[in-house]
Amino acid sequence: MYSKQATQQLQHETAAFQKELREGKIRAREIESLRNVLRFHEYRYAILADPLISDFEYDQLYKALETLEREHPDLVTPDSPTQRVTSGLTREFTQVPHLVPMLSLDNSYSEEDLVDFDRRARELAGVDELEYCVEPKFDGASISLVYEDNLLVRGVTRGDGVKGDDITANIRQIRSIPLSADFAAHGIKQIEIRGEILINKKNFKQYNEQLAEQNLPPLANPRNAAAGTLRIKDPRIVAERNLEGFLYHISYYTQTGARRSHPPFRTQAESISLLWELGFRSPEKEKHLFRGIGPVVDHVRAFEKTRDELPYEIDGLVIKVNDLAIQDKLGMTSHHPRWAIAFKFKARQATSLLRAVEFQVGRTGNITPVAKIDPVPIGGVTVTSISLHNEDFIREKDLRIGDSVLVERAGDVIPYVVKSFPELRKGHEHRIHFPEKCPVCHHALHKAPGEAAWRCLNYNCEAQVTQRIIHFASKDAMEITGLGEALVNRFHEQGWLQDIASIYELPFEEIEKLEGFGKKSVQNLRASIEKSRTQPLHRLIYGLGIRYVGETTAKTLAGSVDQLMDLADFSPAQLQELEDIGPKVAASVHEFFSNPENIRLLKKLEALGVTLRNEKRQGPAGGGLEGLTFVFTGTLPTLKRNEAEELVESNGGKVLSGVSSKLNYLVAGEDAGSKLEKAKKIDSVRIISEEEFLKMIHKK
Ligand code: IVH
Repeated sequence: MYSKQATQQLQHETAAFQKELREGKIRAREIESLRNVLRFHEYRYAILADPLISDFEYDQLYKALETLEREHPDLVTPDSPTQRVTSGLTREFTQVPHLVPMLSLDNSYSEEDLVDFDRRARELAGVDELEYCVEPKFDGASISLVYEDNLLVRGVTRGDGVKGDDITANIRQIRSIPLSADFAAHGIKQIEIRGEILINKKNFKQYNEQLAEQNLPPLANPRNAAAGTLRIKDPRIVAERNLEGFLYHISYYTQTGARRSHPPFRTQAESISLLWELGFRSPEKEKHLFRGIGPVVDHVRAFEKTRDELPYEIDGLVIKVNDLAIQDKLGMTSHHPRWAIAFKFKARQATSLLRAVEFQVGRTGNITPVAKIDPVPIGGVTVTSISLHNEDFIREKDLRIGDSVLVERAGDVIPYVVKSFPELRKGHEHRIHFPEKCPVCHHALHKAPGEAAWRCLNYNCEAQVTQRIIHFASKDAMEITGLGEALVNRFHEQGWLQDIASIYELPFEEIEKLEGFGKKSVQNLRASIEKSRTQPLHRLIYGLGIRYVGETTAKTLAGSVDQLMDLADFSPAQLQELEDIGPKVAASVHEFFSNPENIRLLKKLEALGVTLRNEKRQGPAGGGLEGLTFVFTGTLPTLKRNEAEELVESNGGKVLSGVSSKLNYLVAGEDAGSKLEKAKKIDSVRIISEEEFLKMIHKK
């Protein structure tokens, strides 16, 4: 799509705009050129996953375009990057016919199935050998796009195959789907393209974590997440989910008069390449061509092993006859084309028996039902326990003890009960009774209107006490290595741990006398407790286990105060002014700091030497490294690796996991190895010392 020369030219233009932006003198004549620059960076980000500028820098250029377009509304075009965002809600999705019916694929599960498919196709085509194009079978929601005169005019769901829902406003939110493409250059006037909308594993996981923080059941798999998101009526929410679009099939096109005798592609592989050239995320890099079915079978076998390495879910491979003339000859049944077949990988689902349901009390008192099932292997892991989230989940799925249940574990996702099989019931199954009292302290349970979870409101409930301590000591909070669930329970039974503050009063001489402890293990525990006293403030806030306060919110809260107690002065309205804090979170934080018990606890922590000050806060903006990316390598003269990384984050920068063109600075210490070598080869990466790094922070 973008040649090396074009890439250099556009990077050059990017710099020119950044300079003019700083000087405040971008002129109107440059609007279209600025649009092109933005489209280029959209492409680097969404199609190549190799951005050349940071999100922050992109946003600045985007805002500049918005301003220019506001000043010159007559110059706005429908394919401007600013025109993805639409205001207003979709009322109903209207139904529109597909230009060509959307068929499904025939499935195969074994090598024999593939050999049979090849034999049938060769016989029908009257040839000895066929060439196949093999692509991933993307596991998402299928869609159909229509472009007319280079512009995206429609995005439609599969529906019943003949007509589907018009979801154009939602499709426009997906940055890997171009709003316009130069089809005219290939003599194409109107075109219908088929593909799949996906959510990648990382975004899926992040989204489920957000749901879990609100005690809402997660989505079972990325496919459901993608399909569900496409049906949301607020396009702005769709934009936040970061969907991706893969386009793999051209189902229909018309040509402009002069070009009619010249088809723009003659094979499936050529159609994929054409889409790639035009800026679509087609499986250009993932497709493979083979002569005969033998090598296809080998490829399929080898590919299944690498399935988990992909950033998105696939449920198999699709094998397509490459030559379009032969495809035409083979034709279709009413259900699927005769020129293609899907090879399905092993399902990540299994059935098992629901033996019992246990009710666990979390650190905020939420009661979570947990299903105990007969052990069953799914995707290489034996599953025995699965969260059922809340009472509504159990009711909606109509789950009963003794039921056969369908369990899914997609990729590295937590296991999920998809459904039960009421038709298999024998009569001895019985309903699941949600307890009315806390299973640990026997206080009556409470459910607030609009909330999903039943809660035990007894703050001193044993289960809550220990869960709070476990959370406080956990890796993402105060990181007290060694103080896990087993030790917390043991120390609690001994009467040594009643609250998080008592961690700092543990009687080490007594602990040394306990069975299983020695001098060394007590020393280690003592050292990790000691170290935790000076953890950064956001870790302490997260560790306090305030309802709805996850790691991100904790960072926001920490970043807005000089010391923890300042948060007690914030009204709910003031809290809501902070980034991404809504009424629910604000109310919860306010409630926490209004409780004198909690204030007493915080004072006790402080008296025991735990830092409540925000050591990292520097100046009102708190930043200086915004939009910049860093990687550390080798041994630094004074900073430990995690200290250095926290300095980057607390100053608004970002730490990357490896060296790539996305990296701005490599901070190299002694004995730096391969990262340094790699960085030397990338012109845009600057290699600096710890001293230079510290200067960057202190010069603000
Ligand atoms: S070709 C007329 N190629 O899987 C043939 N389909 O289970 C159209 N799918 O309906 C389909 N990846 O929604 C094709 N590389 C790929 C695909 C793919 C995923 C979906 C598609 C299809 C379904 C069948």
